[in-house]
Amino acid sequence: MRHVGRLAVALSVSFVILAVGFSLSNGQDKPSKKLVNRGEYLVKSVGCGDCHTPWKMGPKGPEQDMSRLLSGHPQDMVMPASPISAPGPWMGSFASSFTAWSGPWGVSFTRNLTPDKETGLGDWTEQNFIATIRTGKRMGKGRDLLPPMPWPAFKNMTDEDLKAIFAYLRSIPTIKNNVPEPIPPAGQAGNAK
Ligand code: HEC
Repeated sequence: MRHVGRLAVALSVSFVILAVGFSLSNGQDKPSKKLVNRGEYLVKSVGCGDCHTPWKMGPKGPEQDMSRLLSGHPQDMVMPASPISAPGPWMGSFASSFTAWSGPWGVSFTRNLTPDKETGLGDWTEQNFIATIRTGKRMGKGRDLLPPMPWPAFKNMTDEDLKAIFAYLRSIPTIKNNVPEPIPPAGQAGNAK
């Protein structure tokens, strides 16, 4: 009887250790539902999808294509040369998808924010994301982010809000979509080969 009692104690202790270990390791890579919900609220109210989700023509006019949520400029949408030198006070033009933008900076394409490792933010850490938004440089040290990405506004968000946004971006469906690199002003010939 004593043996059974000891065994029961030993077992329950190891269950507690297992449970603590599991929740710790889980807490590190899986953000809480509350944080993800807050991120979703921010992304939807700030309107990241206006530029990062391609638009398509719907029954009531242009609408975001939710099957391509936040996946950036569609890789199969090849852009012809852009009419960059618009006359007068016009500064630039943009694609019907709202994902390709032409102006004095050249042509920029909104990027894939889904967790795909090769074409999205799958390999990014929370720190990479926060550094990008704070500095306007990819991962805080790469090339400058081009317009119209409104990072000069977003850099005013708190760390908590940026962490929530990143947690939400981690939770959305992975979409493989290889966004083209920007085209410098001199070579405004579109990305058609
Ligand atoms: C007005 C359009 C617009 C809005 C709104 C917008 N973005 Fe962007 N974003 C862009 C463009 C264009 C790029 C690509 C810039 C470049 O290639 O230099 C970009 C790039 C990025 C990048 C860099 C990714 C990479 O791989 O380099 C991140 C991260 C990003 N946006 C996150 C966001 C988030 C999060 C929101 C909402 C809080 C948001 N963006 C809202 C236009 C926009």
